[in-house]
Amino acid sequence: MQKKTLSDIAVKGKRVIMRVDFNVPLDDNKTITDDKRIVESLPSIRKVLNEGGRLVLMSHLGRPKGKVNPEYSLAPVAVRLAELLGSPVAMANDCIGTEVMQQVLALKDGEVILLENLRFHSEEEANDPVFSKELASLGEVYVNDAFGTAHRAHASTEGITHFIETAVAGYLIERELLYLGKALQEPERPFVAILGGSKISGKIDVLENLFKKVDTVLIGGAMVFTFFKAQGYQTGKSLVEDSKVELALKILEEAKNKGIKLLLPVDVIVAPEISAQAHSHAVMITDIPENMIGVDIGPLSAETYRNEILSARTVLWNGPMGVFEIDNFAAGTMAVAKALAEATTKGATTIVGGGDSAAAIAKAGLAKEITHISTGGGASLEFLEGKELPGIAALND
Ligand code: 3PG
Repeated sequence: MQKKTLSDIAVKGKRVIMRVDFNVPLDDNKTITDDKRIVESLPSIRKVLNEGGRLVLMSHLGRPKGKVNPEYSLAPVAVRLAELLGSPVAMANDCIGTEVMQQVLALKDGEVILLENLRFHSEEEANDPVFSKELASLGEVYVNDAFGTAHRAHASTEGITHFIETAVAGYLIERELLYLGKALQEPERPFVAILGGSKISGKIDVLENLFKKVDTVLIGGAMVFTFFKAQGYQTGKSLVEDSKVELALKILEEAKNKGIKLLLPVDVIVAPEISAQAHSHAVMITDIPENMIGVDIGPLSAETYRNEILSARTVLWNGPMGVFEIDNFAAGTMAVAKALAEATTKGATTIVGGGDSAAAIAKAGLAKEITHISTGGGASLEFLEGKELPGIAALND
């Protein structure tokens, strides 16, 4: 990596202000339903605390739109972090101001405070320089370990770096770039990418970028129906992006010209509606009934995709194969999840690009069997699109 990391700086006795992505899902009782992002931040946090740094953690949670809203308080995260660390985590009730500054200045070596939600101030997302400077004044060195928010040029990710000399990456960002970056730059071959999701428009930039590197692309999710329409098949009531039919044809053409093996499903699961009660069955893609919606890839396709995945040395997965949140429509996505786990056992590097596919791997109970599951949703997508992430670009070279 071209950026300095936490390993390049001394933190003993210093106030270290660290941006983390603690934007975790909470249920109605404010219980954290998935603490992966907190757990993945622990190596950087422990490093600072064990070496006697005075740690100031900051994050956003949800989208409170610049207003204080207790619904979006980070307080439950402070409790969970304290449990994970086995030591106290102080919680501030704001992220700037005199009181916060006093609390920060009172920190002793090896102590940590979590600031309240940055997005209670509209200046955070506006990347306001006065706000950035105030955040910067809380630390002597800055660490960004918020990979999930690295695609946002906000005050705590980009703005702050203009007001603090030492600005380095944490270990989570380092790990994310190691795996996602290696897949894009020097993948071990064969390199198979699996792309799913509902719309071609959401994945076209990823496809274009991956076309420079992959040997095989397996397509799933509702976007397949736009490809089918382009090929002249009936798609029933399935989701089709009519404005992208031409684009779908171009993509198929481009794959052919570049010698990339691009596979679409040969069969799909159809149902009269998207609901847990709906009866579903498999049909060949040439036989999609008029009154049915495609909700998953079919068993023949799942088997073909499995074999492709098992023949790979590098596998990258972004986007589910169907509506996996509904158990009846989850078989294709679960088959891909299992194939990734099997491929890992066989020695392949398997990478899951965050968001829904990470949730699918968790649903399959296979998270431990994957080489790397990104903590980024939007951030990993933009990285895979080949875009520069402003939160990383701003760090010291
Ligand atoms: C995410 O969950 O993708 C990140 O925390 C960024 O959140 P945002 O999309 O609200 O900026």
